[in-house]
Amino acid sequence: MKNTGYFKDKVIIVTGASSGIGLASARLFGSLGAFVVMAARRLELLEELAPSVAPPERVLCVRCDVSSEADCTALIKAASERFGRIDILVNNAGLSMRAYFKDLDLSVLRRLMDVNFWGTVNCTKAALPYLLESRGQVVGVISVAGFSPLPARSGYCSSKFAVRGFLDALRVEHLKDGLGVLVFAPGYTSSNVRNAALTADGSPQGDTPLEEGKLMSAEAVAEKLASALEHRRKQVVLTPLGKLTAFVRGLFPRLVDRLTYSYIAREGKVPQSEK
Ligand SMILES: NC(=O)c1ccc[n+]([C@@H]2O[C@H](COP(=O)([O-])OP(=O)(O)OC[C@H]3O[C@@H](n4cnc5c(N)ncnc54)[C@H](OP(=O)(O)O)[C@@H]3O)[C@@H](O)[C@H]2O)c1
Repeated sequence: MKNTGYFKDKVIIVTGASSGIGLASARLFGSLGAFVVMAARRLELLEELAPSVAPPERVLCVRCDVSSEADCTALIKAASERFGRIDILVNNAGLSMRAYFKDLDLSVLRRLMDVNFWGTVNCTKAALPYLLESRGQVVGVISVAGFSPLPARSGYCSSKFAVRGFLDALRVEHLKDGLGVLVFAPGYTSSNVRNAALTADGSPQGDTPLEEGKLMSAEAVAEKLASALEHRRKQVVLTPLGKLTAFVRGLFPRLVDRLTYSYIAREGKVPQSEK
């Protein structure tokens, strides 16, 4: 990616920076001259990865479970105390699932909402005063599942639709304040997300039904994210399939429901309904 200097000395917080899209984004922002705050639950892993993001004086690692409001408040406090300002908050930490709602322990759906939706709300609430001061940007990493439904992901879809609604409303509230609000929806991306996805009883799937090597790379997604931020875009949907699904779903919802059912059925390891 061409370095235009846009990210130079910007203070950027990335949640879920210990893996996948978050880690690739943290590395890219670091390479473009930003101060990077890496947040996730596995602090030791973050500290191990930090040298690949930025020199010690330009990177901060913070243990944070985004489902905890107190952790998110502490994250934002640590970032502002260390670097004196906050320019960009990337709400990327996230969790997926694989189970039909009829089989689902409701604690799974609650966990998905707590991490994906409330995690975004918690961090955004704490960071907003700093972002308004810097006329900065807040991003929600959602998914194509935040535009169009996917079977066996009712909680995931709910949480991603909710993040989109929340951020779209926030954008309008701050239309005149210079706050940038980006809804960013990757398509299938190679990462640990499917291994960590929760099954009906809340245990991790521990496997992926997809050929991860054939998916978009987390690094390519990070470049798209950086470009969207630089152009202060409001909404980005990635991959041809993702763009097509989001667009056509708005026009022909019943057709997309049937196509989605067949497409996901081909994944094999995803539970299927009997009828
Ligand atoms: N990969 C895809 O195909 C895809 C497609 C569309 C959207 N997305 C979205 O992209 C985002 C990143 O996912 P990924 O694909 O990069 O998955 P990933 O490799 O599994 O990374 C998820 C990250 O989130 C962190 N995390 C999970 N629960 C957390 C919590 N409670 N508090 C703080 N951090 C937490 C994990 O770190 P710790 O375990 O250390 O906390 C990890 O760093 C997610 O929001 C996901 O929904 C992914």
